[in-house]
Formats: sequence, structure tokens, C-alpha cells
Amino acid sequence: MKFLQHSVLPFLIVTLSLNGATLAHSYGDFLHCLSLRISNSSTISKVIYTQNNPSYSSVLNASIHNARFSTPTTPKPYAIITPRKTSHVQSTIYCSKNHGFQLRIRSGGHDVEGVSYVSQVPFVILDLVNFREVKVDTENEVAWVQSGATTGELYYGIASKTQTLGFPAGICHTIGIGGHLSGGGFGVLGRKYGLAVDHVIDAKLVDANGRVLRRKSMGEDLFWAIRGGGGNTFGVVLAWKVKLVPVPPVVTVFTVNKNLEQNATKIFNRWQYIAHKLPKDLFTTVWVMKVNSSQVGKKTVQASFRGMLLGGVDELIPLIQNEFPELGLAKENCTQMSWVQSILYFGGLPIQPVDILLNRHALPVSSVKEKTDFVREPMSETGIEGFMNMFLEEEADFAITMIEAFGGRMDEIRENELPYPHRAGILFESTYIVQWTNEADAGTYINWIRRLYSYMASYASKSPREAYYNYKDLDLGTNNIIGYTSYEQASVWGLKYFKNNFKRLVQIKTKVDPMNFFRNEQSIPPL
Ligand code: FDA
Repeated sequence: MKFLQHSVLPFLIVTLSLNGATLAHSYGDFLHCLSLRISNSSTISKVIYTQNNPSYSSVLNASIHNARFSTPTTPKPYAIITPRKTSHVQSTIYCSKNHGFQLRIRSGGHDVEGVSYVSQVPFVILDLVNFREVKVDTENEVAWVQSGATTGELYYGIASKTQTLGFPAGICHTIGIGGHLSGGGFGVLGRKYGLAVDHVIDAKLVDANGRVLRRKSMGEDLFWAIRGGGGNTFGVVLAWKVKLVPVPPVVTVFTVNKNLEQNATKIFNRWQYIAHKLPKDLFTTVWVMKVNSSQVGKKTVQASFRGMLLGGVDELIPLIQNEFPELGLAKENCTQMSWVQSILYFGGLPIQPVDILLNRHALPVSSVKEKTDFVREPMSETGIEGFMNMFLEEEADFAITMIEAFGGRMDEIRENELPYPHRAGILFESTYIVQWTNEADAGTYINWIRRLYSYMASYASKSPREAYYNYKDLDLGTNNIIGYTSYEQASVWGLKYFKNNFKRLVQIKTKVDPMNFFRNEQSIPPL
């Protein structure tokens, strides 16, 4: 798709090239097309938000979760479409395709690089905020969840019906199901049950031709691809049918903080040898950040060892004392709670009342840049020391690295079972996060995280250096957002996210969306 020229609203003339065929249309024609197809005027006003609409900014900003992409200079969509019915989604695809607008699909708006609500070419957002129904069927242990629902809404929906079923998805309760399941979905139940997408058993998708497909009609190739092969790539996934998993009525969570003066480096060194081998029922994670030292006016680095056992505290203490005595876990570090409360615990929120899971704005929004690594060999102790010391630098005031132990169920699933390939042999995944408040300083902070990432190159997986698609990092390489992107060009980032599955994803994309209608900076390109 190629935009050759455009001018200002409302008389925008866009010249679009879809793999060679050139179309010239206007923004007015696009709106006309959509209004005609939606037809009912009271519905139109609830579905189409143009830049002249007084609610435009609030609808746009409602699910922007990275302030880096909501500055006055950030490109804005020509319109935001908030469909209420499947036919509105089909119409949006039809009119954007025929009138030269790139489509960006948004569910929860947590894309780390903002690609669900920003584009460098004229675009419209298809915002699934009204597609957020959660239907839980405890008898059959399944749920249908619409893409615009958050993980919190799904967790809440399950917990309000039963205390003994759960769902293995991400820790943060405000992320959207649509984007999350399009890239994998790892959380505290990951060692026991694998990824969120490992539990998807059906889906409802609208493809580039506006056809509504279910698992049977889309076929196993496309069904494989949408379970982690990237958002805004194969179509609009409206809903997912997921298999729920058993959880005990009581789980035990813990936190033990160790700073540099308390042997954080040595304890982390030990952790990396054993965390992936612990029983599947025990998930552990280490959060590394700068904190105040006990010496007045000084800073230190803290490794916060956290975890959750699917069981009681009396089971947890002897287990840790046996396997990881260096941690010094005591009963006062532990709290028993329900699985659904543990989501709030890891999110740093009070665990009561649990209906905060329905609050999409419970977490603060700042400017963020993230990067990820998968580590297959233990780091040297000097390597860990150097990594921790980087958090003493000035730019790391609001930086954190979240390191999650793998192993368990993740070791048992083949690399090509689904598009997400980072399975057997991974010791841990690291998500490096840097935040800032003043946009003018963005470069300094981004530079710091790039240095941290460069430092970690010796310790991370190699050939390729694997990265987690759910935390997009455009530093890894991008598509041409205008025109054709070759397989070779996209392989630069594609192999890091998908390893050998990238080739199959490209083949499926070529079959289902050869004109590359669904696209973004890191969507799978057709051949
Ligand atoms: P958003 O709406 O921004 O979409 C992300 C991508 O998917 C975009 O390309 C978008 O176009 C596409 N897309 C969205 N809906 C679609 C649909 N219905 N059909 C087709 N394409 C669609 N991950 C993890 O595995 N475990 C975790 O614990 C966390 N925690 C976490 C915390 C925080 C604060 C953030 C910001 C992110 C995470 N993540 C995470 C990463 C998260 O899973 C990832 O950013 C998801 O893509 C977010 O999905 P949203 O729907 O919110 O994003």
C-alpha cells in the first residue's frame, strides 16, 4: 500500500497503491462510504469519530498506554471507528481498502511502540472498545472473550463464577485480549500451563475480504498463524474461545528484596541455575531496579525476588528452603490469597476489592521504551554485576528489568507448535523497561536502554538473538510502511521474534492477504 500524496482535511486526496494498482480517493469518499454502509444516523454518531467530533480526543486517548505516542507531534488518525457490530468491522475494512486509508486495529492499546494507534501514513483506527464481552462456561471449562476485553475483565469474569479455574495470560490486568493473544501471552501461570495462546481453541476473525471466519472455515494454517503470529496482520480477530485451567482455591505469593549490599548479585546468580528447574507449580520472577540505600543519600540496586506457588504456605517454605536456601524465605514474606487476587498483587495493587480488575485506568501512564531478551546460558557473576551496576546510572531512575523464569510446561511444547518459538531451553526472559516524564529527555533514556541491551548481547540467546513479539521493539528493524517489503528485509526482525516459524507465517500471509492490507511496522509481509 503506498500513499503518494495527501493534503489537509476535509478535502484530502489520497493516492494509494496496493501492490501496483493505483487508486485515488478522498477522505470525504471514505466517510461517505462508511456512513452509507452503516446507514442509521444515531448509530453513525456512536461509531465514527472524526477529528471534528468533540469526543475525538477522549476516544483516542482512552487507551493510549505509552505517553511517548500522544504528543502534539504524534500523527493522529483521520477517524476512529468504534464498531458495535461485526458488519461495522466489515464496512470499515471495505471502505478503508477502497478509499486509501491504512487501518490500525486497537484492542487494549498497550502496544509498546504505539503501532495500534499511530502511523506515518493517513490512517484510521478500528477501536474494539465495544467488543468486550466475556462469557464463561464453567461446566465445559471454556470462555468466549471478545478482543476488546482486558485480561482483567477475563480474570474477573472467571473468578466471579468459580475459584478453581483460571487462565494463563499476562500479569498486567489492563492489557487487551486482542493484542495480547496476537503475540503469545506469558504470565504467572506460564510455567504450569504455557502461554495464553496455547489455550485458544477457536476464534472469530474478519479477513481482508470482509469474510467472517471461524476455526473450521479459516483452516488450520490461518488458525495457527493468528495464535501469536502478530496483530494487524491476518485480519481482525473479534473473539477467542479459550480453554480454562484448574487453579487451587488458595495460592501463596511472596516477595524477598535483596540489594547489592545484601548479596543480590550472588543470590541472582544462584536463582538463574535453579528457577527453571523448580516444580511447575512454582513461578518466580526477579525485578531489578534502583532504590535508596540504607546509607543516607546513597542509592543501591535491588533485586526483588517474587513468586507464586499453586498451593499453601506450608508447602512453599520447605520447598524454597530445600531448593533455594540462599533466598532466606520466611513466613512473613508470604501471603495466601486466591489466584485472582494474585494478579493484583503482582500488579502492585491492593488485593481487595478485586473489581479493580475492571478498571482500565488503574495504572499510571508514562513514556516508555522496552526491549526483551531470552537467556539460554547462565550469566557469569561479573556479567550480573555489570548489569546491576547499570541501574546506578542517572538515566535508570525509573528503569526496571522484569526477569521471568521459564522451564516447566514451556520446555514441553515444540518450537513450531505455534508461531511463538521461545520454548525449550530458555532459562529466563528479561523485559528491560525505561520510563521518563519529560518528552524532551526521551533520547537520553532511550540511549540508556540501548546501551543496556548492547551490554546484554554477550549473555542473551544468539543466532538469532531472540525477542518477544508482545514487547515490540522497532530498533530490531521495520517494514517499509509505504510500498513493498522484501522477505529478507523483514527477516531481520522476523527471525528474532519467530525463528523458523517466520517463513511459514510469510507463506500464510501471502495466501490470505496478498495485497498486504493489514500491515504495520512489524507485521508479517506477503512474498
Ligand atoms: P493494542 O491494542 O495496542 O494492540 C497490539 C497489537 O495487536 C497492534 O499491532 C494491534 O494492531 C494488534 N491488534 C490488537 N487487537 C487486534 C485484533 N483484535 N485483531 C488483530 N490485531 C489486533 N505481555 C505478556 O505476555 N505478559 C505480560 O505480563 C505483559 N504485561 C504487560 C504490561 C504492560 C504495562 C504493557 C504495556 C504490556 C504488557 N505485555 C505483556 C505486552 C502485551 O501483551 C502486548 O503489548 C499486547 O500486544 C497488548 O495488547 P493490547 O490489545 O492491549 O494492545
